[in-house]
Amino acid sequence: MRWICPHCQHTLQLNAEHKNYRCENNHCFDIAKEGYINLMSANQKKSQNPGDNKAMVQARKQFLAAGFYQNLADKLAEITAQYSPDTNAQILEVGSGEGYYLREINRLFNAKNPKHTAVFSGLDISKDAVKTAAKMSPLQFYSVASSFHMPVMDNSLDIVIRNFAPAPSAEISRVLKDNGKFIVVTPGPKHLYQLRQLIYRQATEHENVLTGIEDFQLIEQVHLQNTINIDKPEQLNALLQMTPYYWQTSKENQEKLNQLQQLECQTDFVISILQKTAV
Ligand SMILES: C[S@@+](CC[C@H](N)C(=O)[O-])C[C@H]1O[C@@H](n2cnc3c(N)ncnc32)[C@H](O)[C@@H]1O
Ligand SMILES: [Zn+2]
Repeated sequence: MRWICPHCQHTLQLNAEHKNYRCENNHCFDIAKEGYINLMSANQKKSQNPGDNKAMVQARKQFLAAGFYQNLADKLAEITAQYSPDTNAQILEVGSGEGYYLREINRLFNAKNPKHTAVFSGLDISKDAVKTAAKMSPLQFYSVASSFHMPVMDNSLDIVIRNFAPAPSAEISRVLKDNGKFIVVTPGPKHLYQLRQLIYRQATEHENVLTGIEDFQLIEQVHLQNTINIDKPEQLNALLQMTPYYWQTSKENQEKLNQLQQLECQTDFVISILQKTAV
């Protein structure tokens, strides 16, 4: 992965012996013991600990590990493999959270071709998320960084994945190669509808509009629907903790939700595959 220096934008070189990355201007970034690097410069931070906090990261980790979104992971892996140009594709997930999807994608690549040399990287603004991801995923490269100022070389990637995370189109276009693909996952109209019914007096369907794709042309869209039965209180609690709806509801409503024992709920994902338009 060609990370660049967040201060001077020169390429970072790995010094495995000293366990750090360094640019030609001698800006140095240590590799944390979990295996990630922090490329977030202080002036990019709008708060002390931006992005998902520790509790949200742990909740997402627990919920995803139970396999409720396995259908999305499988489909995303299949699509990523299908659109990868060769065995040494450079793949980046922005807002990669605790790394569940990237691990699943990497797993499929390994199963299909054990000799592949594709490189899987993730970045997230949340240090807790990156720390957790790196700890669980020694095969992937992670950095703490904002998707609005990615520490990534221009025209260097084959595929960028944005899965329920923010990232501006111009920045994605900058880092993708000319025929690069941008894979975006967004909620479909019925996503977690039954959960939203419990939270809002009138739950509306998600609007199926794709935004932030100005520099791209849509080439394929896949809809993925499923019904999940969440019947363990700790799993329900994890789902609540990782969704923004929960935090938007009153304390009283949160208490009611915390008493729930079981929930049958629809999941609805839209995967859009986009191609960078020539400039
Ligand atoms: C809803 S979570 C999705 C995580 C992961 N893609 C998944 O589906 O499990 C959104 C993620 O985006 C991250 N995030 C928010 N703003 C970001 C930014 N400006 N740059 C990079 N990551 C960001 C959050 O920290 C969080 O991990
Ligand atoms: Zn530098």
